[in-house]
Amino acid sequence: MKAALPPACSGDLLHWYDRQRRELPWRGDQDPYRIWLSEVMLQQTQVATVSPYYRRWLDRFPDPAAVARADSQEILKLWEGLGYYRRALQFLAACRIIVRDHGGQVPSDSEAFRRLPGVGPYTHAAVRSICFGEPLPAVDGNLRRVVSRLLMLEQTGGALTAAVERALAGIIPRDRPGDFNQALMDLGATLCSRTAPQCGRCPLEQHCRASRSGAVERFPARLSRRKRPHYPIAVGVIWKGDRMLITRRPENGLLGGLWEFPGGKIESGETPEEAVRREVQEEVALDIAVGAHLGTVKHGYTHFSITLSAFACHWLSGTAQPLGCTAVRWVRREELQDYPFPGANRKLFPLIGDTSSVPDMSV
Ligand code: ADE
Repeated sequence: MKAALPPACSGDLLHWYDRQRRELPWRGDQDPYRIWLSEVMLQQTQVATVSPYYRRWLDRFPDPAAVARADSQEILKLWEGLGYYRRALQFLAACRIIVRDHGGQVPSDSEAFRRLPGVGPYTHAAVRSICFGEPLPAVDGNLRRVVSRLLMLEQTGGALTAAVERALAGIIPRDRPGDFNQALMDLGATLCSRTAPQCGRCPLEQHCRASRSGAVERFPARLSRRKRPHYPIAVGVIWKGDRMLITRRPENGLLGGLWEFPGGKIESGETPEEAVRREVQEEVALDIAVGAHLGTVKHGYTHFSITLSAFACHWLSGTAQPLGCTAVRWVRREELQDYPFPGANRKLFPLIGDTSSVPDMSV
């Protein structure tokens, strides 16, 4: 069966959107800087989570020049908790290019915008359709789900994205491409959800092959996923006087540029305490005494999960050196909140007392 969407889909969809669309902080706006920011924040992150971050960001950084003047630490602090921190550093890099090469304005040239760091096919299509009326389908997870159901597309991954793009290119209206894309996003986020689709209320039900076949929940077809690996990690909260040691991760890797307590994976045959002592030697060249277990927290990332066990430690000797990190800093308890930390490390904060509560370190 040929995968073509009936042209009536777009009228039915826009009619629904005009009555039912979600009121969101960026809705109705066509400013490319603000729309681009919203689309970057919305990648992998839900609307309800993004909204307060979006407002705070615009209060602090009303335009690309304000972003370009900031340092990566401030950027990451404002992004803290949104996850996928690489997007924030790429947005910073892109704003610096905009100031250097485009007079501080997001380029109105489609190709120049596409070349900016972090601007992939989805972001490009979303911003170009919403702000400039370019008829490009912006295919994210919601659109893949909606269209795979409408047409009962069996593909997965990149092949599904390509098929969805082709199908939508045939019906995207020239006069309202941005509304069309956002209508499909809203439909996917509300009525055509992954686990609880409400077909009876869907404006496209009469066009939907999966609904007519009673097979909605079979789409999109799932890639058979390998189980996410799990890593046990041990870290030290190392006290020296009234300060503890934090280290900064390299900017170009996972959780790039964020701060954390030194530590790492527990190797097989090692106790958590041994792992902390070894990792601290390797990462910052300090001798420490490892004391009480402060607690263990769990955290899930997209491709793996960890358990993080934290130990109260004492500095014994050595000067902290950034060997396996890019910076080291001794900070007071109340200064922790000034630094951007990944979620798992932030979960440890309530477990950390102050110096006076560090238990006896005789080991
Ligand atoms: N998800 C990503 N971009 C969006 C938008 N512009 N509106 C609603 N949901 C979205």
